[in-house]
Amino acid sequence: MTEKDFISKPYSKTLVSGSFTWSSPSNIALVKYWGKKEYQIPENPSVSFTLDYCKTTTTLSFSEKDENEEFSFDVFLDGEQKDDFKPKIEMFFKRIEGYLPFLKAYHFKIETSNSFPHSSGIASSASGMSALALCLMSIEKQLSNDVSDAHFNQKASFLSRLGSGSACRSIDGDLIVWGTHQEIVGSSDLYGIKYLHDVHENFKNYQDTILLVDKGEKQVSSTVGHDLMHNHPYATRRFEQAHENMSKLISIFKTGNLDGFIKIVESEALTLHSMMMTSMPYFILMKPNTLEIINSIWAYRTKTNSKICFTLDAGANVHVLYPENEKETVMEFIKKELITYCQNGHYISDQIGFGAQLIL
Ligand code: PMV
Repeated sequence: MTEKDFISKPYSKTLVSGSFTWSSPSNIALVKYWGKKEYQIPENPSVSFTLDYCKTTTTLSFSEKDENEEFSFDVFLDGEQKDDFKPKIEMFFKRIEGYLPFLKAYHFKIETSNSFPHSSGIASSASGMSALALCLMSIEKQLSNDVSDAHFNQKASFLSRLGSGSACRSIDGDLIVWGTHQEIVGSSDLYGIKYLHDVHENFKNYQDTILLVDKGEKQVSSTVGHDLMHNHPYATRRFEQAHENMSKLISIFKTGNLDGFIKIVESEALTLHSMMMTSMPYFILMKPNTLEIINSIWAYRTKTNSKICFTLDAGANVHVLYPENEKETVMEFIKKELITYCQNGHYISDQIGFGAQLIL
């Protein structure tokens, strides 16, 4: 598949107005995407767990307007008009206009809400952009006679990528690969694909408790962070390492080797943050409590032989990952020893999930 395969064929139908609602999940990367080329092409492959609870639900209403050179839309978050969201969506529309020729033919009302608090430090760009892309694809499906389910999902992922890279991993579940990797047939830099190699039972219903260490806005956006990987002294080696870690994960997923899983996942999290600390300018997104949590997890693991581990996104919050059979014991440990490091004691219980849903 190339970009050209996502250019729409002439539509066979017309639509005056309508509305669609999609609910789309967040995802947490195990091998991280950090560094990109033009057109949101990742520098290395990544793989993520799709989440189940953390979601954005978006209703996109549309009505015909005079076609002119302008995009026309309003955005609402929890019923409140959000003009500060508009530049990001305007940029998204510009990037995808060539693939969705109807964008200037309608006025859109975008009404969105998140299952997690907006000010939780959890990025809503993956779930938000994918929910919007899915709504737009529902319009295209109505306008066109021949959109297969496979093409629908693939193009939704392709469009989401142009909104926010990691959003292309939020369409489907439960393990998604984005970026070309030589051992993963069908993997692409253009969209996410379902991971179809063997996955051991140990990873079924894997748990993710998100500890909210810092609910504030990130001081450095991921756009800036990605850019700093250009001319980064360790970039080339880092991108190679991501390929190697993907290869290692293939056999780990197959055999259920949880010790191997822990090593890769924690190393990837710390590598992501060390790229930030060694870019120029350098920056640190972890907070003292992020380190307190990491150290407590390591101590607990040594003491109990638990298969608990952590990963990090581009922020201070900690994702605590553990197998389903440790749900009760690890939750007890989290409540007893880790919640004290969370802002206002807040955390979110989540687990691996099955992808976006059309809400009727
Ligand atoms: O999708 P973006 O451009 O916000 O980048 C996010 C990158 C990380 O979340 C830090 C890692 C990843 O692979 O999701």
